[in-house]
Amino acid sequence: MNNTLRIKIAPSILAADFSRLLDDIKRVEKEADLLHIDIMDGHFVPNITFGPGLLRSLKGEVNLPFDVHLMVDYPERWIEPFAEVGCEFITVHVEAASHLDRLVNFIKKRGRKAGVALNPTTPESAVEYIIPKVDLVLAMTVNPGFGAQKFIPEVLPKISAIRKIAERKNPDLEIAVDGGINEVTSRQVVEKGANILVMGSFIFNSSNPEDLIINLKRKLNSKSERSYERRSK
Ligand code: DX5
Ligand code: ZN
Repeated sequence: MNNTLRIKIAPSILAADFSRLLDDIKRVEKEADLLHIDIMDGHFVPNITFGPGLLRSLKGEVNLPFDVHLMVDYPERWIEPFAEVGCEFITVHVEAASHLDRLVNFIKKRGRKAGVALNPTTPESAVEYIIPKVDLVLAMTVNPGFGAQKFIPEVLPKISAIRKIAERKNPDLEIAVDGGINEVTSRQVVEKGANILVMGSFIFNSSNPEDLIINLKRKLNSKSERSYERRSK
């Protein structure tokens, strides 16, 4: 089989209206693939967001896998609380990890999918030796901390480089991108080999997020838009 890796959309609730968070999630639940949840500690990044308590309340109400993006120092302190809540994907930043292999082992041992995230200027070599063990690499396409920032195009070659390493070491690796992803940039990153598109403001600012996701997936999955072909997961 020589199918393409399926494109998945992960709406980021950072861009939702927090006064009606569950309503906003319901607007994307049917068509999205994952729910992206940014955990910020005010230290690793200059912003503060949610803790495990909020996710525990949402978990029973939302029919989507939780994709937790830990933008925190001391990530080892936070894996167990988010694993316990039932978050399906747990992603840690390589810049915050003193013992990345140990963290990844711990996430996997807890039965969760393990992801590693790279800030825009962190090279692909920082994850080369962990790629065989992880389910996902997340390439930040903005400086983490805030939504609605401008996409950093210098990250594009890094996405290709990660995909090349994955071809050799872990063909089923999912590559996520996060920050400034919209109709134009989604095409650029998919061409380089990304398949999970985290999208905050582009989705939640739309008057019809459901249609937007349907159309985007249709376009990006169509053969003409995909120059990057590989095995299906
Ligand atoms: C930024 C967060 C992103 C953010 C993306 O630090 O990790 O998930 O919500 O927002 P947009 O899509 O608006 O750039
Ligand atoms: Zn994120």
